Amino acid sequence: MNFKVRKAEVSDAGQLFQLNEIFNGEGATDFELLKQSLIKNDQEEVFVAESGGKLVGFCCVQIFKSMCYKNFYAEITELFVDEKFRRLGVATAVIGYIEEYFKGKNLAGYQLFTSDKNTNAQACYEKSGFARSREIMYRKRLF
Ligand SMILES: CC(C)(COP(=O)(O)OP(=O)(O)OC[C@H]1O[C@@H](n2cnc3c(N)ncnc32)[C@H](O)[C@@H]1OP(=O)(O)O)[C@@H](O)C(=O)NCCC(=O)NCCS
Repeated sequence: MNFKVRKAEVSDAGQLFQLNEIFNGEGATDFELLKQSLIKNDQEEVFVAESGGKLVGFCCVQIFKSMCYKNFYAEITELFVDEKFRRLGVATAVIGYIEEYFKGKNLAGYQLFTSDKNTNAQACYEKSGFARSREIMYRKRLF
């Protein structure tokens, strides 16, 4: 399959909204919020994989900056590939593109959270050189 990875554009908003509904469920976001975030969001960079004019996957990266460190780090917060296009190297290509994109941009590294049951995602990240950490995540839900 031929596909291309690139930065997301505002014109991708409709297709991104649809893919996000599949991934994060209906009502997870609002179309206008998603569109506004593509126009301006200093914390997040969005990348897409496209095949034949259709988006087949996307990835969101948050950049964390702290007074405590001279380097930044990036968190992959969302990674999704349309079911029909999985196991074709799309996610691997997206991660590779992101790593190239941030080269020379003062980044110390990448981190992400995934479910202990999501073995497909674990294998995918490990293929791209991510190592499982022993740290655990704490979360306090507000709603
Ligand atoms: C996880 C996900 C992004 C992988 O996308 P993908 O484009 O299919 O991944 P790739 O084709 O680049 O696969 C990379 C590696 O991951 C592993 N992998 C991916 N899918 C797998 C599967 N179904 N079974 C076993 N290993 C799998 C393999 O090691 C694969 O390398 P290989 O094909 O050379 O053996 C995709 O399955 C997905 O969108 N899942 C639902 C959303 C999700 O779980 N996102 C991650 C949240 S943190």
